Amino acid sequence: MNTILLNNITDLRLKIKEWRKEGLTVGLVPTMGALHNGHASLIKKAKETCDKVVVSVFVNPIQFGPNEDYDKYPRTIENDLKLSNEYGADIVFAPTPIEMYGKNTSLSNTELTFVCPPYNLVDCLCGKSRVGHFDGVATVVLKLFNIVTPDYAFFGQKDAQQLFILKKMVKDLNLDLTIVPCPIVRENDGLALSSRNTYLSADERKRALCLSKALKHIEKTYLQGITDTDILFDTAISILDSGVEMEYLEFRNFETFEKVEKVQANTLVAIAAKVGKTRLIDNIIL
Ligand code: PAF
Repeated sequence: MNTILLNNITDLRLKIKEWRKEGLTVGLVPTMGALHNGHASLIKKAKETCDKVVVSVFVNPIQFGPNEDYDKYPRTIENDLKLSNEYGADIVFAPTPIEMYGKNTSLSNTELTFVCPPYNLVDCLCGKSRVGHFDGVATVVLKLFNIVTPDYAFFGQKDAQQLFILKKMVKDLNLDLTIVPCPIVRENDGLALSSRNTYLSADERKRALCLSKALKHIEKTYLQGITDTDILFDTAISILDSGVEMEYLEFRNFETFEKVEKVQANTLVAIAAKVGKTRLIDNIIL
């Protein structure tokens, strides 16, 4: 195994300093662990782009609401290390919550400095039901950027709202790095890979397929010439399994994040739904 596991910030910074002295470029793949082939594609892309690659594995307590799955979120560090090694990561950085935040580990804490992305970007889609989530994401990602000082950071397009918000943070706060968006990786039957798929029973897994089917159906209908988002919405709804509780299905311009009534190039179609107790998201860009 060539990949080194580090748990503390000081050791990581020393290593990064060594690389910098050699003039090497650094890529960061931020994750919450439970790595799957979607993460593997990010690590692979990072390895192709940069001399050195750090994968962070940190289930970030401040991005989970009180009734969410922080405690239950899968923690599989041995496997994460193995997969990171297989795809050529140099370091897996897996800090404890105390290492990252001291004692301030709850979303409701008032002692921590938070990054607050613009209201119009967080008060919609996933942010509507996950209040405070994107503040927690932006805060931990800025901390990781400050710790690792990467030249490039790699994020999956599945979390499209997260990606948009983080790109905005990089621009607004003049961070000296490039965000590289990476395509969604799917199972053969279309299900978007997610660490939360492990929560699904066999029956729920079958029902979850209707999310990607609905998106595919929208794409097909759009390619047949229908651009009206109300019509596209209605055709997709008819495909959703009655055992799936839809939270949103929205069409947004992926350059401005504004809602669109007519699909144009670069329209994000994003869906979130609960399958049993598991909340899943998926999207396509038309
Ligand atoms: O997408 C994720 O896994 C997390 O939100 C991230 C970016 C690693 C921050 O905790």
